[in-house]
Amino acid sequence: MRILITGVTGQVGHALCRYDWPEDAEIVAASRHDLDLAETESIASYISAGRFDAVINPAAYTAVDRAETDLVAAWRVNALAPAAMAAATWKVGIPLICVSTDYVFDGTKAGAYNEDAPISPSGVYGASKAAGELAVRTGNPRHVILRTSWVFSAHGANFVKTMLRLAEERPRLRVVDDQRGCPTSARDIAAVLAKITLRLIADPQAPTGTYHFSNAEPTTWCDFAKEIFRQTEPFGYPVPDVEAIATTEYPTPARRPANSVLETTKIERDFAVVPRPWREALAEVLSDLAHGVTEESEVTR
Ligand SMILES: NC(=O)c1ccc[n+]([C@@H]2O[C@H](COP(=O)([O-])OP(=O)(O)OC[C@H]3O[C@@H](n4cnc5c(N)ncnc54)[C@H](OP(=O)(O)O)[C@@H]3O)[C@@H](O)[C@H]2O)c1
Repeated sequence: MRILITGVTGQVGHALCRYDWPEDAEIVAASRHDLDLAETESIASYISAGRFDAVINPAAYTAVDRAETDLVAAWRVNALAPAAMAAATWKVGIPLICVSTDYVFDGTKAGAYNEDAPISPSGVYGASKAAGELAVRTGNPRHVILRTSWVFSAHGANFVKTMLRLAEERPRLRVVDDQRGCPTSARDIAAVLAKITLRLIADPQAPTGTYHFSNAEPTTWCDFAKEIFRQTEPFGYPVPDVEAIATTEYPTPARRPANSVLETTKIERDFAVVPRPWREALAEVLSDLAHGVTEESEVTR
């Protein structure tokens, strides 16, 4: 089996490359240098020449605030590239597995969002991802779109590493306490993507469509920050005071959903995935960071 993975320098793509794939899986890890997704025209030939059995696409334009003023670039990578991938994978008869986001929702719903909830992105990033979803749905019936939320990892840029850096610089941090979601480990997302991909390759009748996956137990950014420092204190990291603030006190160019909790019962049922609590996944990542496993180390396959 040959499996193409994009976005391999990112959190999820990197975790996918480090996943313990079966011996007969050959992973083709495509960086931006190998396949620039902004160059939409090159995607079809890359995929048709690659003799792949599946394509996993976690690559994205993820700079949520920059996207507000860089609309064309965001839409190229998040909408046009998935459209080209869908057409190319359908043409050669292979499944396409794409990663999407909780930011396709506006966050006004009271409870958790299931896969059928109407989308209503409030920013360019969310809108471009929603357009990518639509293109994948209409371009290749053998697809899985995996929406996830609040991704963290020892590798790459994310909230956990930002909090640890800021704690080195300041005794007091002000963190938003009125946005709810589920932090999710990139490693756990990678394991789910791998499971789905292997099933789609093995079984033409495997379930397809849109799925939600996140780690369990909703929280706020503020409580997420407090838990990070509660867990890092034993490692001797600095522990700042964390002050809860409202979103209105921390204005950003792109509006974030106040609630982006994703319901995960569909993926639990169809793919026998059991999301673990994010606190448990966080402990694993913090341990990696404390022991210097920052995975800037080489990808092995
Ligand atoms: N981060 C989150 O909190 C979050 C939450 C919900 C959903 N998601 C979704 O989860 C997926 C993975 O996110 P992540 O956190 O792993 O993202 P990330 O760490 O920001 O990585 C993004 C990856 O996409 C690549 N990329 C961007 N533009 C490209 C281009 N023109 N050509 C080729 N590659 C390009 C980047 O390559 P370079 O290193 O070369 O830039 C990088 O490898 C994305 O689809 C994202 O929308 C993320």
